[in-house]
Amino acid sequence: MRASIPTTFYLLLLLYTITTTTVATPPRSAKQTATAESPSSPSASTLDPHQLRALQFLHIPTTQDPCTTSTCDNATPFRHLLSLRLTDCPMEHRLSTTTLSTLSTLTSITFFNCHIPIIHFPSSLTTNLHSFTSINSLQRLTGVFLSHFHNLNHLYISGDPIKASGIHIITSNMKSLKTITLYNTHLTGYLPKDWNPKLIHIDFSKNKLKGSIPTSLTLLKNLNVLNFSSNNLIGVLPNSLGALTSLKILSLSSNSLSGPIPGSISSISGLVHLDLGSNQFNGVIPEFISEMKELKYLNLENNKFHGVLPFNASFIKKLDVFKINGNFDLCYKHSISLEELHLGIARCDKHGMPILPPPAMNTPSSSWVDVGGGGDENGGDDDVVEKNNQVHVNRGPNKVVLGVAIALSAMVFIIIFLVLLFIC
Ligand SMILES: *[C@@H]1O[C@H](CO)[C@@H](O)[C@H](O)[C@H]1NC(C)=O
Ligand SMILES: *[C@@H]1O[C@H](CO)[C@@H](O)[C@H](O)[C@H]1NC(C)=O
Repeated sequence: MRASIPTTFYLLLLLYTITTTTVATPPRSAKQTATAESPSSPSASTLDPHQLRALQFLHIPTTQDPCTTSTCDNATPFRHLLSLRLTDCPMEHRLSTTTLSTLSTLTSITFFNCHIPIIHFPSSLTTNLHSFTSINSLQRLTGVFLSHFHNLNHLYISGDPIKASGIHIITSNMKSLKTITLYNTHLTGYLPKDWNPKLIHIDFSKNKLKGSIPTSLTLLKNLNVLNFSSNNLIGVLPNSLGALTSLKILSLSSNSLSGPIPGSISSISGLVHLDLGSNQFNGVIPEFISEMKELKYLNLENNKFHGVLPFNASFIKKLDVFKINGNFDLCYKHSISLEELHLGIARCDKHGMPILPPPAMNTPSSSWVDVGGGGDENGGDDDVVEKNNQVHVNRGPNKVVLGVAIALSAMVFIIIFLVLLFIC
């Protein structure tokens, strides 16, 4: 078998989503941005032959004008590529610096399922790029390599390990950075102390980041999304967290954060998603949370909150997701409607202390309430597991009995059928 041109691998796709989000930033060259809107206008000139050859070298089909499927400028006599998406690259694939130099007009590049080792990117390209994405693709990424893309607005790495002693190595030169996602990239070290005030989206979830959340983070007035889920963060939340008044999503779940929920969070009036689950948070749950009009997702499970749950059933029902189980010193004031929600925490006695044991939870709960562990006040983490198992065990026999019954009746039916068939 000869290594012929792989026909099925490369897709060159228009990245309008990314390019439209970058439109707001200062144009690299007036010519490029002014005319990027009409990629397939018939009167437009064809793609630069050098770039055409570079695409062919990358095994990207060029029988059709690439500018019909990808973003190009409208320069004359030849147009130039502005965005490139490499998907499902063949194993033998190699990027070359020469090819990348030819493609240095790109402002956006995406690698998706292209398991290729990184190579040197020519500085003309690193300077031009506004958007860099690698999803399960580039191998041997380093912080130093990424730090060269100092004009990025958007950086998105998912599933590709990055070797860097800290995130600041990557971001400290990126003066225009607006969104950054470094998800599942094996990053270690501490969170940066200096943040670009233009940031609107930060997702560092599923890494190995340690240390506490720096107060300097709360200077990000434009921040919409903050996701530090699944790291090794410790310490208390900065008191000034409420200064993040543009925040819509705050996800800090699965860390080892502790202390109370800061009262200042009450000033984040547009908060939609609050996930503090699986940490060591303590104190009472503040009442102001029930005043947060936009809130749809509230996860406080598996923490150490105590006292009386300050929510009524109508507030909880308004949420899409509400999780509270695994807080063993927390209880709810008795009411029929709260009882019906099977919250997974104990009822309060008249002193506001949990009564044991928690209500049985063998009825399936509604979709917006998590069926979780019980609220035994003496419980530890093991208890949650035990009780979760119990929930399954409780439900188990019914399913088994039902299954056996169905199987038996099916067998009886088949036997009768065979006997009848035989007789006939
Ligand atoms: C935050 O990150 C976690 C872990 O990667 C992910 O499961 C979750 O969906 C993210 N939350 C939001 C709101 O994007
Ligand atoms: C439930 O709590 C909300 C928020 O605190 C409050 O506005 C509402 O009046 C309460 N509803 C009932 C039925 O008590």
